[in-house]
Amino acid sequence: MQRPHVTLKFATSLDGKIALANGMSEWITGEKAREEGRKLRARHDAIAVGANTAVLDNPQLTTRIDGEANPVRVIFDTHLRLSPKSNLALTAKDIPVWVFSAATTGEAANILEEQGVKLFKAPVDNGIDLKAALQILHENSISSLLVEGGGTLAASFLRLDVIDVIEWFRAPIILGGDSRGSVGDLNLEDMNLAKRFNRINIRELGDDVHERYERII
Ligand SMILES: NC(=O)c1ccc[n+]([C@@H]2O[C@H](COP(=O)([O-])OP(=O)(O)OC[C@H]3O[C@@H](n4cnc5c(N)ncnc54)[C@H](OP(=O)(O)O)[C@@H]3O)[C@@H](O)[C@H]2O)c1
Repeated sequence: MQRPHVTLKFATSLDGKIALANGMSEWITGEKAREEGRKLRARHDAIAVGANTAVLDNPQLTTRIDGEANPVRVIFDTHLRLSPKSNLALTAKDIPVWVFSAATTGEAANILEEQGVKLFKAPVDNGIDLKAALQILHENSISSLLVEGGGTLAASFLRLDVIDVIEWFRAPIILGGDSRGSVGDLNLEDMNLAKRFNRINIRELGDDVHERYERII
């Protein structure tokens, strides 16, 4: 399969949580880690999030760095839940927003398209078929993709074994078992099937730690 290089980025608590149960995730890590996260965006052709993150966080997914181009913003959104009033839709004419969906026709689709959102009809296989989506991204000149979560989307990419690098920003806080996990279900039944990575870098960023991992091929 021809596909972009895929990096998974997390900003988590010590116990690997990415948001409170109510969806609140601002801010888990400190300013230095967040600045590093913005630089990471600037080094990629596209940034991807799942539909829940797009709806709950109403993110901009921009670099907010003067002089830096913004990557294409990609949403995996089977039922086209992205609101025309979202920050993504409202800025789609200036910074591209590409939505992979099974619902690319109808009134909601027309409104988003008028706002400049590009819709890609994608096959569905327990969510958007990521293999097909990666192929389409490759065909549209995306050679590097930064997956920013949430946990459900992260798990889908991990199940497919297409995460090349993990950038993990970890804050010295604990959010507890009722909070949202960084990785959704993988349904593993044997430790030998665990997704394994090599740590290739670790450094402190203020109070936080930044670790970089590479896929074991
Ligand atoms: N701290 C961090 O680094 C960080 C980063 C991002 C998000 N977050 C937090 O994470 C929470 C959301 O995470 P989440 O796990 O609930 O949701 P998510 O991963 O953001 O989105 C999952 C949704 O995406 C859609 N989707 C479409 N194709 C998919 C596929 N192949 N695989 C998986 N999902 C697919 C599905 O909704 P449809 O069926 O409707 O398409 C699915 O329910 C929010 O609270 C947000 O604040 C934290």
